[in-house]
Amino acid sequence: MDSGIGGITVLHQALRLLPNEDYIFYADTLHVPYGEKPKEEVKGYIFDAVDFIVSQGVKALVVACNTATCIAIEDLRRKYDLPIVGIEPAVKPAVQKWEGRRKKVLVLATQLTLNEEKFHNLVKRIDHEDIVESLPLPGLVRFAEKFEFAEEVAVSYLKEQLSPLDLTQYGTVVLGCTHFPYFENSLRQLFPPEVDIISGSFGTAKNLKRILEARGQLHEGTGDIVFYQSGTKVEDQETLTNYKNLLAMLDELYYHPKHV
Ligand code: DGL
Repeated sequence: MDSGIGGITVLHQALRLLPNEDYIFYADTLHVPYGEKPKEEVKGYIFDAVDFIVSQGVKALVVACNTATCIAIEDLRRKYDLPIVGIEPAVKPAVQKWEGRRKKVLVLATQLTLNEEKFHNLVKRIDHEDIVESLPLPGLVRFAEKFEFAEEVAVSYLKEQLSPLDLTQYGTVVLGCTHFPYFENSLRQLFPPEVDIISGSFGTAKNLKRILEARGQLHEGTGDIVFYQSGTKVEDQETLTNYKNLLAMLDELYYHPKHV
């Protein structure tokens, strides 16, 4: 589940690692964006979404949203008796790259994630050299929800948001929001070519696989996906095609990049 289509970036990795599972993808489209709303309000939306998802009889839940993981994962694990996998900004692998090249880390996430104590504690635990900086980019969530992926639009927004920063000082950019990987090419246009851009999607899918394997719960299904928008099953062909196109776009971006 995610607030919107960001979670498809995690679903995409899950489908590669676990192609024989059957999936429900839940986008809370009535309440997106989470990252600009008060925490308690968003928590309510998350619990409503998870109540619904659990009522569908799932064997595991992936909270494919950094914001939702940040504000609710512990409470979700206390309430529901099933494995719950979350996603968090990939700060640790980013900080580990500091040795040898002495370049800083920029975490891009929602304002709600960046405000949270859970995020600050994560950085405090890992960042002993004080090299982690952060920036919210709410515009990217809005563009993604409108299926506005044109690079000119994203690049001009990003240019403005990043203008106060000296981009040459960063070695790694962490995509700490699942809506952001769609804009990786636009980000690449602005940062020096040697910058690493990383996200937690692959790690999250790997965790899901590890947990299902350990519980002997791997499935021999067909990789079927049923899409829901805030509790309503998506039946209209145009929306379903849009979702499938996003999976194809992520394949293009990550597994058949044109610039290689
Ligand atoms: N995709 C979400 C995340 O990973 C949140 C976007 C939003 O709803 O603001 O943080």
